[in-house]
Amino acid sequence: MSHAFHLAAPSFTQNPYPVYAELRERAPVCQVEPGGFWAVSRYDDVVHVLKHPELFSSDTYVARTSTQDERLQREPLAVSDVNLLMSDPPVHTRVRQLVSGAFTPRAIARLEQRVREITTEQLDRILAKDTFDVMEDLAVPLPVTVISEMLGVDPSLRAEFKRWSDDTVSASMGRLSDAEVERVLRGRREMRAYFHEMIAERKRQPREDLISDILRGEVEYGELKGDDVLGMVALLLIAGNETTTNLIGNGTLALLENPDALRRLREDPSLIPGFVEEVLRYEGPAQFLMRRATQDVTLSGVAIPKGAIVLPIIASANRDPAQFPDPDRFDITREQRGNVGFGYGIHFCVGAPLSRLEGKIAFEEIFRRLPPFSREPGPVVWRAMFSLRGLQSLRLRFDGAARAA
Ligand code: HEM
Repeated sequence: MSHAFHLAAPSFTQNPYPVYAELRERAPVCQVEPGGFWAVSRYDDVVHVLKHPELFSSDTYVARTSTQDERLQREPLAVSDVNLLMSDPPVHTRVRQLVSGAFTPRAIARLEQRVREITTEQLDRILAKDTFDVMEDLAVPLPVTVISEMLGVDPSLRAEFKRWSDDTVSASMGRLSDAEVERVLRGRREMRAYFHEMIAERKRQPREDLISDILRGEVEYGELKGDDVLGMVALLLIAGNETTTNLIGNGTLALLENPDALRRLREDPSLIPGFVEEVLRYEGPAQFLMRRATQDVTLSGVAIPKGAIVLPIIASANRDPAQFPDPDRFDITREQRGNVGFGYGIHFCVGAPLSRLEGKIAFEEIFRRLPPFSREPGPVVWRAMFSLRGLQSLRLRFDGAARAA
């Protein structure tokens, strides 16, 4: 049976918000395409799902990979039982401790100087041009450089990393050509080989980096096996790339569409943290999450069967008028309590302090260093990604008069 709503259709990718509004009003818990997954769209229901891991498990590996090409399913990147994102307590609680120390707000604050340097280097290159692509020239390189340095990988492999990360995301969309499948597999093999060697090296000779920290944590945690460390590193690399990139891209677009907000932020940079939160609410890089019902369960009066895959749509919860007044208005000073752009509960984003820092510094430096700019004519093209939201590119041009001045 096919279902009325399709969360991977091209029109949905271009603008999902009318679909979310209709779901919230007409069918707050209902099966959708692809996969007959159960979409949950109202704020209270989304929070309820995320608050109850005993009813809605994160163990969703099979469902996540089921949409992939068979050849990709046969050769996964990492085979591990301790995946942070896809585990439940008590395993989740212990695995999370292995990485959480590196991402506390205090630990992250120490990176501020370096994040600013990387941003400045990128902006220097942008300033040498008349037109630039904020995705390619800033939003992509900034997070990939930061997470690569944290992990302790060779900066010269940055382009490879981005490719590996992109391939993982495109693999989740299904419908790949033979050539694309080959490319993804080749990338997987390269990534495995690279990290296996690096992990072995850090075991022999620990350094001051995140991989060595994870290996040190093993003493308390107990032995990590096979691909466990590789799986964690891959998750951090991918989670740290696709999302923060889109926070910067989606935020820049929101500014161009809301010139009042842009003017206020240029005048008063202390408004930037509130603006970053509003981007997470209004145009969040993570649109929906995935859970599996551990038993028959009723939500908003609808019966969900045991084993069903549930999609709590955090981007719809963030536009629910029951939680956020006038939710379709972009308002950088609105009350943000209850924003679920980084998720909610035990799986709340480990990287939140890092992406908040990167977002804040990126926009501080954009406003401080770049003269006024406008969008190059042409349509806004959103990338086809399941559950994530981000732009293909965002080409900008410095406003002539201001540049000449
Ligand atoms: C704007 C940027 C980001 C957004 C919107 C975002 C969003 C999210 C969301 C919604 C979750 C919850 C997933 C769930 O409940 O199933 C999550 C988890 C996670 N995020 Fe992020 N994320 C961002 C940046 C980052 C960064 C920079 C890193 C690391 C470098 C990171 C690493 C993780 C990890 C490891 C988890 C799993 C945590 C767990 O399961 O306990 N994220 N993220």
